[in-house]
Amino acid sequence: MSNVRRIFVIGAGTMGHGIAEVAALRGLNVTLYDVKQEFLDGAMSKIKWSLDRLAEKGTIKSSSEVIQRIATTLDLESGASDADFVIEAAPERMEIKRDIFSRLDRSARPEAVLATNTSSLPITEVSESVSAPRRGRVIGMHFFNPPVIMQLVEVVKGKYTSDETVKATYELAGALGKQPVLVRVDVPGFIVNRVMARFLNTACLMAERGLHRMEEIDAAVRYGLGMPMGAFELSDYIGIDVLDDIIKAMIARGFSMTPCGLYSGMRSAGKLGVKSGQGFYAHPGSKFRKPELDRSLAAKVDPILLVAPAVNEAAYLLREEVASRDDIDKAVRLGLNYPKGIFEYADSYGVDSVIDALRRLEEALGSREYEPDPLLLEMRSAGKLGVKSGQGFYAYKRRGE
Ligand code: CAA
Repeated sequence: MSNVRRIFVIGAGTMGHGIAEVAALRGLNVTLYDVKQEFLDGAMSKIKWSLDRLAEKGTIKSSSEVIQRIATTLDLESGASDADFVIEAAPERMEIKRDIFSRLDRSARPEAVLATNTSSLPITEVSESVSAPRRGRVIGMHFFNPPVIMQLVEVVKGKYTSDETVKATYELAGALGKQPVLVRVDVPGFIVNRVMARFLNTACLMAERGLHRMEEIDAAVRYGLGMPMGAFELSDYIGIDVLDDIIKAMIARGFSMTPCGLYSGMRSAGKLGVKSGQGFYAHPGSKFRKPELDRSLAAKVDPILLVAPAVNEAAYLLREEVASRDDIDKAVRLGLNYPKGIFEYADSYGVDSVIDALRRLEEALGSREYEPDPLLLEMRSAGKLGVKSGQGFYAYKRRGE
């Protein structure tokens, strides 16, 4: 049971306004802050649009009852002063986060939890902008887009984060109707963005190098793998600039990846995805339009080539004890709406086939990041191949057992 009554959300962009909406939907009082009134006004009209959708479906009685729990402010200090829990969702730049957290240090109540929704910056570094006694109260609380629909919250421990803060954040996630997973080590990109980046970047490299057309890849992702959005469709949805920033921030902190050149090229050309009306696909009026993809295109791409790099990353996270097997699978099911966990995909294809696919990618794309993780090689040597051998990441009963 969470003791949080008032939440202060910093940043009224896509994630900030979505988080404010979720909290208000769950009966909490919210103050939403941004630096310009027009950002706050834009956010409130998007919240209203989303709540109206929920009211049309009968999920809530009316949008106005929920909206009245959200106050807006241009004054960070006063917004912070009466909050039990602060969630910062400002732009992904360390100097902005540092400025915000040092101001929170002076204005927030000593017992308030100070969470950041960063997707790729280090929690430990953010916590170092507050005075030493407060650092235990700083934590990562990473939501997924759109926050009102996506069930997952990654709870990320920094070097100083106390167990009490983890507990309070888990409780708040539960009160918000979300499912938390624990990221024990503050690695760049945490669980979901690391796995997702491997998958999206591989799809993008395949298109860039002319191995497949993007429509073929997206059809294979949607119809072959059963994922809710194709790789290029999801990239447009997230925003090409956001994706480019995430990948660059992870690389800057040691994540080994050959970034697909299409992202930076599109960014310079202002093709940012849904928000600019054009990304890999056209989205007239900056409204997301689901691309129409012919089912027959799916057969042109071997889907294991897209899944294998994501499995490889997940194997690294498990081997390094960043998160548990179950939390990693839960994270991709609820953070990306995959129909099954990434280890479940691995077990159904077979660990040996995943390794083979990584070798094929290494040859076709010439990137070292496709080197199979030692955990996969060890599993293959031990005959732990997945469903076909009865044991992989999970145990399976074979017929007659
Ligand atoms: N508010 C209220 N309702 C919404 C909504 C919102 N913001 N967005 C979508 N919906 C509703 C729609 O109105 C629709 O309702 P009905 O079924 O009653 O018509 C329903 O949700 C489904 O939406 P759509 O029909 O438009 O499209 P869909 O079936 O493809 O579902 C989706 C949309 C849930 C977003 C789905 O495509 C999906 O799960 N995509 C993957 C999203 C994903 O991977 N997100 C994570 C990105 S990574 C990230 O966020 C981390 C980061 O740091 C960048």
